[in-house]
Amino acid sequence: MSEQDDESTESMRSNATGSVAFVLTFGDFDDQSCRVIVVDWWGVGGQLRSQYSPCWRLIRVDPMSRVHLFEFNDQSWLPEAWRRYITEYLQFMLEHGPFDELPALIARVVDGADEPRIVDLCSGSGGPWPTYLEEPLTEFEGVEVLLTDLHPHREAFERIERRTEGRATGHEAPIDATDVPADVEGRRTIINGLHHFQPEQARAILADAVEKGVSIGVFEIMDRRAVSLIPLVLIPLFVLFLTPFVRPFRVGRLLWTYLLPVIPLMIFWDGLVSALRVYSPEELRVLVADFDDYEWEIDSVPAGKGPQRITYLIGEPQRS
Ligand SMILES: C[S@@+](CC[C@H](N)C(=O)[O-])C[C@H]1O[C@@H](n2cnc3c(N)ncnc32)[C@H](O)[C@@H]1O
Repeated sequence: MSEQDDESTESMRSNATGSVAFVLTFGDFDDQSCRVIVVDWWGVGGQLRSQYSPCWRLIRVDPMSRVHLFEFNDQSWLPEAWRRYITEYLQFMLEHGPFDELPALIARVVDGADEPRIVDLCSGSGGPWPTYLEEPLTEFEGVEVLLTDLHPHREAFERIERRTEGRATGHEAPIDATDVPADVEGRRTIINGLHHFQPEQARAILADAVEKGVSIGVFEIMDRRAVSLIPLVLIPLFVLFLTPFVRPFRVGRLLWTYLLPVIPLMIFWDGLVSALRVYSPEELRVLVADFDDYEWEIDSVPAGKGPQRITYLIGEPQRS
C-alpha cells in the first residue's frame, strides 16, 4: 500500500469513530489499489482526504454515531469574558450537580500513587476541584492538583488556589492537552473535556499520556441517549434560575442573561452539542486499540440519583 493509501485508511478509521461519515470508494474495495474518500460532512471544515472518484459508492452511514458540531467555547475568536461566562457556569454545575459517583471514580486515577499529584487538562474554571479539595472528601486526601488549559483562566485558578489552601494550583502558561510538556508531571485527568476533540486529536491526547508513561482518566458526565438529551432543553431555564448564584459576580453575566439572554442560548447550544460529541465506550475502545502497553478500563455508570451517566476511561501502564 502506498503512503497515501495508508493515510486514507487511517483517516477512514479515525472518522469511522467520529462524526457521521460517508466513506466513498472506487474500484474494488478489497483490492490493495483502491482509493478511499472520507467526507466528514458534519465536522466543521469537513475533510476530503483523497481525490479519486469515478464511481462513488456509499459504504457506511451511521446516523447514531458521534456528531461533532460547532461549539462556542471552542472558538478562538470567542472573547475571554464570554469563555468565562460559559466555564464558570459549568464549574458551578459540576460543584452542585447530582454527580455523587464522580469523586470516587476520579480518585481511582491516583490509586496507589506515592505522592498523588493530578495534572488536570482542559480545566476551564476548575470543574469540580474546589469542592473536592476543600470539603473533607476522603477520596482526595493528600492529593495535589495542577489546573491547566489551552486558555488558562488565571483569575479562577488563583481563586481556587486560595480556596483550597494551595492544594490546587494553576499553570500560568497555556497547555495543549495533545502535547503536555514532559516537566509537567502527574497523573492526568480530563473532566468533560475529551468531547472537544475530533478523534485524531482525542487519540493524540491519549497517545501523549502513553508516550510519557503516565496514567490518564477521562470523564464525561453526558451521553447520547435520548433520556439524557431531552432534558437538555431545560438548560436555558436552569441558566436563568441559577445565574445569581454563579460566582464571581459579573455585571456582564447579568446583562447578557437577563437583558439579552445570549448566555443561556450559548450554554444551551454548547451543552447540546457537547452531549452529541461525547465518545461512547465503544468509540473510546477504538481510540485506545493500538496502545497495548496500557490497561484500559472503559465503561459508563450512573452519575448519581438523576438520569445522567458518567462515561469514563482510566488507563495506566501495564504492571509487568
Ligand atoms: C467544557 S470546558 C471546561 C471543562 C472543565 N474541565 C470543567 O469540568 O468545567 C473545556 C475546556 O477545554 C479547553 N480546551 C480546548 N482545547 C484545548 C486543548 N487543545 N488543550 C487544552 N485545553 C483545551 C477550553 O479552553 C475549555 O476551558
